[in-house]
Amino acid sequence: MNYQVIIPAAGQGKRMNAGKNKQFIELKGTPIIIHTLKVFEAHPNCSGIVLVINEQEREEFIKLLEQYEIKKVKRLVSGGAERQLSVYNGLQAVDSCDFILVHDGARPFISHEQIEQLISGAVPTGAATLAVPVKDTIKRVNNGLVVETVERSSLWSIQTPQAFRLSLILEAHQHAATDNYLGTDDASLIERVGKQVSIVLGDYTNIKLTTPEDLLLANAILDSRKETNK
Ligand code: CTP
Ligand code: MG
Repeated sequence: MNYQVIIPAAGQGKRMNAGKNKQFIELKGTPIIIHTLKVFEAHPNCSGIVLVINEQEREEFIKLLEQYEIKKVKRLVSGGAERQLSVYNGLQAVDSCDFILVHDGARPFISHEQIEQLISGAVPTGAATLAVPVKDTIKRVNNGLVVETVERSSLWSIQTPQAFRLSLILEAHQHAATDNYLGTDDASLIERVGKQVSIVLGDYTNIKLTTPEDLLLANAILDSRKETNK
């Protein structure tokens, strides 16, 4: 099934502490955002990419798109102060289609197989997210003291992409905007309008590059992929 994808890349990468937007950090000589874009560029079912950027970085992004011959980026949209607002701006720029994916620019290891499983999972409910079971024990803490240990078997780490019927995600974002509600992912906006979100089992290598040590892991993942492609 064909889809369009919104890729928010308009953050500042503060936790990465690289002195620049982490999207431009190179992994094996190629910027993170290009690794991400190439996956969708090469996926036949992806009919268009809306890339959400910081206006001050527009020239830099345009240069990279030309250099790496990324042709599916139909629009470069200005981001907002929060990720949710960046996605909202992206939503205003998509063409009419059945399914919209939202995928972090900083999550370069997503595979075609996972994208296809995600979309299949989104068909019955209209919304789905990739997720993996939490490995650590999670405790709720207040002022340095444990309040409770949360039952781990029901906890999942949520990833992107997340897939939505266009009409549903538009409605959910509109509601959030009206209520000034900010969530940490797009699926949570669907949940708060009372709709179901399906979970599709993801892969532990689909990490978001957030802090400097994630780059070590990223290089190891790229090395292991080279090995398996030999
Ligand atoms: N993002 C965005 N607009 C924002 C904030 C984030 O488009 N106002 C994007 C980021 O560029 C990233 C994705 O959303 O691809 C996930 O966000 P996160 O990992 O938090 O990235 P940053 O916000 O850049 O990092 P930090 O929170 O450490 O500053
Ligand atoms: Mg952020």
